[in-house]
Amino acid sequence: MKRLANWNHKHLIGLEHLEREELEVIHETARSFRQTLGRPVKKLPSLRGKTIVNLFMEPSTRTRLAFELAAKRLSADIISIIGQASSLTKGETLKDTALNVQALNADMIVLRHSSAGSPLYLSQVVDVPVISAGDGAHEHPTQGLLDSFTLRDHLGELEGKKITILGDILFSRVARSNVFALTKLGAQVTLAGPSTLVPHDFTNLGVEVSHDLKAALADADAVMLLRIQHERQSSTHFPSLGEYTSMFGLNEHRVSWLKPNAIIMHPGPVNRGVEIDSTLADSKRSVILDQVTNGLAIRMAVLYLCSTASDFRKKELAQ
Ligand code: CP
Repeated sequence: MKRLANWNHKHLIGLEHLEREELEVIHETARSFRQTLGRPVKKLPSLRGKTIVNLFMEPSTRTRLAFELAAKRLSADIISIIGQASSLTKGETLKDTALNVQALNADMIVLRHSSAGSPLYLSQVVDVPVISAGDGAHEHPTQGLLDSFTLRDHLGELEGKKITILGDILFSRVARSNVFALTKLGAQVTLAGPSTLVPHDFTNLGVEVSHDLKAALADADAVMLLRIQHERQSSTHFPSLGEYTSMFGLNEHRVSWLKPNAIIMHPGPVNRGVEIDSTLADSKRSVILDQVTNGLAIRMAVLYLCSTASDFRKKELAQ
């Protein structure tokens, strides 16, 4: 297996510490895998003989399915373990779970967990590559990769492009990974929403913060909507969902504030009628399902690149 230039990471924990060139390598690899997805025979032999275990300790539809399909398209075997149906419910630790997975000769672990930092921790206790599928409010790296990939499809190079991310930024791992990816790719990012969910501190990440929805939408080339992350909020950050929708929901009136060609994105799951009107989620401006399709190619690229880097290291150590 040949190691690709500009990629030597065995794990993918987040996007914060990746270089722009590394993001571009993942995008290029995903682009070439995407070309194969429309073929009558979709399987490639790239990861034949490998076994991947999906450890999903939080609910997921898109990410889990995309990782499963990505592994199958690359001819790897993949098994998913769902937290509620595992021995974690009997008191077993995440570390012991992962060590047991490794003892069964898994070659790679994909982890979604409610605790920020759990993929990094796991990468320090097992020998196999660990890929984060989202950890608490920390990062969701493959989402940031597929969103920036989708944006490049629709807007071309992102240098100077204006991207507004609107909604629950404070509790959003998607927002963080997107901020890291998009700013490295040269985009100007504005985080918008109520001040309780979009604190001024985020300007430290090299982005603008706005509580003025009209201004935040007016010059955007794309708006990415985020749902309210009830599962991570221990206290109330706005009076009611209805109040949030009336102040910050994207509706037919507010969409007219956008430039005519601006696109609408959402990582899913969409709460129709809360952060976005149903008609807009289904409108021509919406690229929400393109994001999902691109998520498959991105996960194929990440599994392939990390597995290849890991094998390359093992070979070097053996010499
Ligand atoms: N975008 C995303 O992570 O969706 P799921 O929670 O369904 O995986």
